[in-house]
Amino acid sequence: MKEASNQYLCPYCSHKYQSFDVLKTHVLEAHAGEPAPQPEGLINLTVNGEKHQVHVESQWTLYQLLHDQMGLLGIKMFCDRGACGSCTVIMDGRPILSCMTFAIECDGVVIETAEGIAEANHPLVDSYVKHHTMQCGYCTPGFITTAKALLDKNPEPTEEEIRKALSGNLCRCGTYPQHPKAVLEAAEHLKGGK
Ligand code: FES
Ligand code: FES
Repeated sequence: MKEASNQYLCPYCSHKYQSFDVLKTHVLEAHAGEPAPQPEGLINLTVNGEKHQVHVESQWTLYQLLHDQMGLLGIKMFCDRGACGSCTVIMDGRPILSCMTFAIECDGVVIETAEGIAEANHPLVDSYVKHHTMQCGYCTPGFITTAKALLDKNPEPTEEEIRKALSGNLCRCGTYPQHPKAVLEAAEHLKGGK
């Protein structure tokens, strides 16, 4: 687990500050006329093994915090309405839709994103490449993240269970047949079979 890092993010320009007071001074000076950040917007969360204390606006979604403010660009946005799964992250072991989750409600949670899965060299990454599980690749981080949550919970899923787990993820390029193959192969790797 990495050390905690304080990030007080300006809601208007995304600059980072090391304390809430400095952030507030910045907003008052640089964004005069905009609402000043309130201290009740402070949350603590762990993202890909790193602890953060961040200031969030009450209207931000978790997607806005992770992607727009923290720069985790692997989290993708197709629909912004809970219909496609491209914005999936793992929160406390469960795949959730970051576009449908308020950041302010995420105090104390542990988050894993596609970046963390890639950094950990999870076998899903290689198996997704090997099985040509992407065309444009835009939906891929959401699929891999959902698949990772499945394998964490169920290391030996059947093809049917994989299809069911991935049924909330949409792919406009039609890569659906490849995903179960990639997930089954990753499961084999995790068992030490290949
Ligand atoms: S962008 Fe979140 S479900 Fe589509
Ligand atoms: S690979 Fe293009 S949307 Fe899925």
